Amino acid sequence: MILESKSFQLFPESASNFATQVDGLYGYMIVISAFFSILVAFLIIFFAVKYRKRPGVTVASHTDDHSIGAMLLEIAWSVIPLGLSLVMFAWGASIMFQESRPPKDSLNVYVTGKRWMWKVQHLEGAREINELHIPVNRNIRLTLTSEDVIHDFYVPAFRTKTDVLPGRYTTEWFRPTKVGQYHLFCAEYCGTKHSGMVGTVYVMSVEDYNKWLAQGNGEGSMAEDGESLFRQLGCGNCHMPDGHGRAPDLHGVYGMNVDLSDGSRIRADESYIRESVLYPQAKIVAGYDRIMPTFKGLISDEGMLKLIEYIKSMGNPNGVVSERPLAKEPSDIQKTGPMALPESEYKAPAGGPRPSAATGKQQ
Ligand code: CUA
Repeated sequence: MILESKSFQLFPESASNFATQVDGLYGYMIVISAFFSILVAFLIIFFAVKYRKRPGVTVASHTDDHSIGAMLLEIAWSVIPLGLSLVMFAWGASIMFQESRPPKDSLNVYVTGKRWMWKVQHLEGAREINELHIPVNRNIRLTLTSEDVIHDFYVPAFRTKTDVLPGRYTTEWFRPTKVGQYHLFCAEYCGTKHSGMVGTVYVMSVEDYNKWLAQGNGEGSMAEDGESLFRQLGCGNCHMPDGHGRAPDLHGVYGMNVDLSDGSRIRADESYIRESVLYPQAKIVAGYDRIMPTFKGLISDEGMLKLIEYIKSMGNPNGVVSERPLAKEPSDIQKTGPMALPESEYKAPAGGPRPSAATGKQQ
């Protein structure tokens, strides 16, 4: 399938676990499309010549063929293409499901798109711009967001591509299988220098990667930076670790299901934490009051990622996120939290409307 010469390359290199699967599906679609295009074109020409108008030959005015043969032919040309298309659907869906489920043991890297550059933050503290250094044969999970408009993180050699949206987190994962350097593109038109929003992914051997990490810039890890931000912003005054604060204890909350005051339940993921910081009135944890002010404008997108990383690290010393099953007794859902302050002390803003910005849209 891969045709290449020194000067011209039809396919990008195959450098991730998805590459062969995506190429296989692509090849199947090309073969099916080519076969039917050629068949139909050939039949058009063949019948045009065979049944052309000739002097002295008259055409029967109308024939109504209800023969078994005609029916079988019609069934065949409907059912066979249907089956072939359903294979495309099932094959494509299975790849999509795999691509949308990062394995638990993935190495997390944060990527922020900005006109017109890619900013990368590693958990250990290293940062880079328009470059991404990762170890080979290791599952990599990117958490992506944008500071301005929609971008799209695209590495053709990995055959994976994800929209990067402002005010939201998306994820992309892959396992690089070959040491090397690969092009990184923005695949969503985002303004004048969209075509310049490119970079390089460096897939390194584990030793080289560790060396690269060790020569880091001496900054703290993301979680450490997040902790100092947590202090600076005074989050700990209410989110007290013993559960006796005015706001819920955040230890071990990441990845858990949280009961909300309206009786619903939500998984505490990156987007939920982000929304709770910027639009605290959007979702109130059951048993707590609407007292948290917004931190919109006080925290940058990168600061938010650090804060999230700190919250993730809280109460999970080994980095393993414990999970609780979603299905519980319905009676459990309305339960109030461990503490309830006297109503008089912390009044909820009088019937203030919920910010419509619950979707996290900026501007
Ligand atoms: Cu960013 Cu195009």
